[in-house]
Amino acid sequence: MAFRIFDTHAHYNEKVYDADREELFADMRAKGVERLTNIAVDLDSSRINDAYTKRYEFIYGTVGVFPSDVAELEEEGAEEELEKLLKENPRLVAVGEIGLDYHYEDTDKPLQQKWFAGQMELARRTGRPIVIHSRDAAQDTLSILKENHAEEIGGVMHCYSYSREMARDFLDLGLYFGIGGVLTFKNAKKLREAVEYLPLSALVLETDAPYLTPEPFRGKRNCSSYLAYVAEKIAEVKALSPEAVCEACRENACRLFRLS
Ligand code: NI
Repeated sequence: MAFRIFDTHAHYNEKVYDADREELFADMRAKGVERLTNIAVDLDSSRINDAYTKRYEFIYGTVGVFPSDVAELEEEGAEEELEKLLKENPRLVAVGEIGLDYHYEDTDKPLQQKWFAGQMELARRTGRPIVIHSRDAAQDTLSILKENHAEEIGGVMHCYSYSREMARDFLDLGLYFGIGGVLTFKNAKKLREAVEYLPLSALVLETDAPYLTPEPFRGKRNCSSYLAYVAEKIAEVKALSPEAVCEACRENACRLFRLS
C-alpha cells in the first residue's frame, strides 16, 4: 500500500512506547507516515511536545489541558507557560486537547467550561486552531464553541462520536472531523452515517494512539501506519480510492494546522 499519511492526533509520549519508540518511528516513516501531531493533555505533555518538535522533523505538537485535568490551569503561571511555549515554538501548531468530558459523574462541569473557553481564548491570542475533546457533552460543547466564535479560531472535532444531525452544526462552524479506528468497528453505524454525510474536505485521519486501534489489530497498541485501514474504510463509505482519501485528508490536515 502506497499511502502518504498525516496522523493528526497521537500520544507517542505515553509509557507504552518507551521501550521501542525510535524503532516504531522509523518503521512508520517507512510505511508512509509523513507527518503527525502529538497531542498534549496536561502541562507535562505540553513541555514534552515542545521537546519532540525540536528533536523530530516530522512531528508537530500541541499544548493544552484535557477537560478532566483543568484544575492544573488554576495554578499560578500555568496558562502563561503554555502561552510562552506557543509564542516561542511555531511547530506547536494547535491548542488541545481541550473541551468537555461529562462521562464521569463527579466531574466539575463549571471548571471544565471555564477552561474550555479560556483555552479557546489562548488559541485566539496565539493564532492557533483548537483540538476539541467532547464526550457526553454535545450541546454544551456546541454552545461554548458558538459563544467564543470557533468559526474565527478553527479546529477539529477529535474522535467525532455524535450523530449525523449534530455533525451539521459543527460543520457550520467550519470545523474538521477527526476519523480514526472506531470507523472500522462492527458497531460503528452512527459514525459511518456521519462520515457518509460529511464532505471529504472536512475529514482528517487520526489514531489517538496508543488507543482506539483499528481492525484487524483492535485491542493492540495503536500506531500511525494503521491509518491505512481507516482510509480504506472511509474510501468504502464514500466510494473512492483509499489513496484519494489519504491525499485529501493529508491536505485537509495541512489546512487545519496551517502548514504548507
Ligand atoms: Ni487523544
